[in-house]
Amino acid sequence: MALEFAKRIRRIPVYPAADGYALDDDVALLASNESPFRPLPEVVAAAQRAIEGVNRYPDPESSTLRAALSARYGVPPNRIAVGNGSCDVLLAAGEALLEPGAELVYAWPSFSMYPHLAAATGATALTVDLDADDRHDLDALAQAVTVATRLLVVCNPNNPTSTAVPAAALAELVERVPPYVCVIVDEAYREFSTLDDPDATVDLLGDHPNLVLLRTFSKVYGLCGLRVGFALCGSQEFRTAVDQVRQPFFANAAAQAAATEALRHQDEVARRVEHTIAARLGLEDGLRELGLAPADSQANFVWVGLGEDRDEADVVRGLAERRVLVRAGTALGREGFLRVTVGTPEQNERFLAGLRDLL
Ligand SMILES: Cc1ncc(COP(=O)(O)O)c(C=O)c1O
Repeated sequence: MALEFAKRIRRIPVYPAADGYALDDDVALLASNESPFRPLPEVVAAAQRAIEGVNRYPDPESSTLRAALSARYGVPPNRIAVGNGSCDVLLAAGEALLEPGAELVYAWPSFSMYPHLAAATGATALTVDLDADDRHDLDALAQAVTVATRLLVVCNPNNPTSTAVPAAALAELVERVPPYVCVIVDEAYREFSTLDDPDATVDLLGDHPNLVLLRTFSKVYGLCGLRVGFALCGSQEFRTAVDQVRQPFFANAAAQAAATEALRHQDEVARRVEHTIAARLGLEDGLRELGLAPADSQANFVWVGLGEDRDEADVVRGLAERRVLVRAGTALGREGFLRVTVGTPEQNERFLAGLRDLL
């Protein structure tokens, strides 16, 4: 007799992970918005030291990492949640806040994990279209909030469309949203935005106990293989709730040690951001030279429509044959588009040359 699973399992979408994990080094992996930069030797050494002690469980409080995050962002440690990647905190937020009858609001297309939140909890998802420039329509999001809304998620910069809204506009949104609604601003790519100071949103936490900024070591810190993310919270209640719904040891010892060390190298973070932004501008120029119109990227990837008469699947396949992996827009919520991570100069050039061939 077959196993009987909970009914909600059928509603949960399968995460559209990119290919490319079993390929050799000569493939340009531009499909998962990873960092092309390897972790710093000091970060690797810190992880290795931690691995020597893995006969012990990791610190369930991530105390050292939370103290380091507190020093870096000026948010008290009791308002900082750590997770096995920022997705872990996001899913825990869904579990802690949502249930049948509750509503969740987010824009679409946006990060593929958001549909999971409602499906896993039985809550109702209300999605709001992006504006004509593929940016979040903050006014429409605020209007979608009802008495049943428990959670509003704003992905800024937005995955997959790469666009961002400034911190001042977010501040207005948070002012408009009732205090019983938790507003999670998913800032996985925040450091790559040139619209304003990446830390500008941190200042909003003091006035808004319902605000949560979700950040990660997966992107600018290049540690996605270790899985560690964090949330800077407007109140301690959010952190207590997301810790309560998870298993105790959600952040492993190597991840905690590596992330703590990575925070000490802010100059290197700034250098990597500069390289990424310069390369992003180069990619956007290259796409424009091909007659395409990429979105205004504030992230470490670009989003570009291929035009009506071009088949997205053919282009993605043709690029893969040229050893370049990118994401097809269809899997991310919009047909006829490509999402391309900013890679090394050689990888970006290979992508542009491949696309030139194919178009
Ligand atoms: C918008 C957004 N949020 C969160 C994440 C997840 O990051 P993490 O590796 O910290 O779970 C991603 C990963 O691609 C993302 O694009």
